Amino acid sequence: MMTQVHVAQQILDNITTAVLWFDDQFQLFAINSSAETLLEISAKQSQGLPIQQVLAHEKLTPETLSQIVNKRCSLVERGLRLHFLGARSITVDCIVTPIFEASQQYLLVELIQVDQHLRITREENLLLQQQAARNVIRGLAHEIKNPLGGLRGAAQLLERELPSAQLREYTDIIIEEADRLQSLLNRMLQPNAVSHKRTTNIHQILVRVRQLLLSELGDSLTIHSDFDPSIPEFNADPDQLIQAILNIMRNAAQAMDGKGEITIRTRVHRQMTLGNKRHKLVLRIDIKDDGPGVPDDILDQIFYPLVTGRAEGTGLGLSIAQSLVNQHDGLIECDSIPGQTTFTLWLPMLESEI
Ligand SMILES: Nc1ncnc2c1ncn2[C@@H]1O[C@H](COP(=O)(O)OP(=O)(O)OP(=O)(O)O)[C@@H](O)[C@H]1O
Ligand SMILES: [Mg+2]
Repeated sequence: MMTQVHVAQQILDNITTAVLWFDDQFQLFAINSSAETLLEISAKQSQGLPIQQVLAHEKLTPETLSQIVNKRCSLVERGLRLHFLGARSITVDCIVTPIFEASQQYLLVELIQVDQHLRITREENLLLQQQAARNVIRGLAHEIKNPLGGLRGAAQLLERELPSAQLREYTDIIIEEADRLQSLLNRMLQPNAVSHKRTTNIHQILVRVRQLLLSELGDSLTIHSDFDPSIPEFNADPDQLIQAILNIMRNAAQAMDGKGEITIRTRVHRQMTLGNKRHKLVLRIDIKDDGPGVPDDILDQIFYPLVTGRAEGTGLGLSIAQSLVNQHDGLIECDSIPGQTTFTLWLPMLESEI
């Protein structure tokens, strides 16, 4: 007959939740099969490892864990992003519970992976919200454009009537500022341009963007290409794609102060869902830089218009890029930690399946 311990072990190994036990030193004591699969580690090899090595996250510091034990209460963290070697990352809901057994104390950690489910809802929500934000901004830009033209015209008329050159300094300021605002509004209204799609070679586009960026920012920047030469041509608007990719690469270069390395990687994926459409063949372009990473507080919002982390930024680059890629039924995603930021463009290459 099976002992209770065996039954417990069987149950733990067969549940889909990843379970880990740590001892009072916060070193790994045991894990179940789901945890082995999720974290890609073996129970044997990982035994005795400190928690920070197994589950590297700022919310799981020894101080926080000690508090959990001292206060004898559980910690529940939703949507924790765990990063691993080789740029792999997963999103989990995490529950940490202290367990007191005889004179021993343990920490029980449960991890439930939420990536897949989150990914689809997140994509759908993001697309809808970004579209709504863009519409508001576009409406606003339209409303400002006409009176702005009036203001500028009136300032010009006034300028002619003014008796002294000294007073004209003021009308000059009005005209200059109106022009600056006008070009900002033009950028805000821009992405609605109609796509002119034709047979396009993605690598020609990437080579062109590389040239443009190098001529703009100079020699301290290194741009590596890791292209899959077998990628076929597809139907797209090359000018729109050049602009979208240039906006992303320019950000990377700016984040690194013009000094650093950018890697562009192209691959194709078969049978993929983007937003709520399924596609036979999807092009994936990764643009990776080794700069400081997107500031944490704006990471979730960078594709919204007017969100910027740069003093001189307008926060339009990524919103325009996302809009241009959306016009191709595609999507841009970002994954960023200090030293490794990747923007991924997904572009369908074949008509979607019904
Ligand atoms: N590769 C990157 N590394 C670090 N931060 C980035 C990167 N790409 C984007 N960001 C952050 O995202 C913000 C938004 O980028 P976005 O291109 O939309 O606007 P911007 O660059 O600030 O202004 P604009 O492009 O309109 O001149 C940036 O200000 C920057 O803080
Ligand atoms: Mg930008």
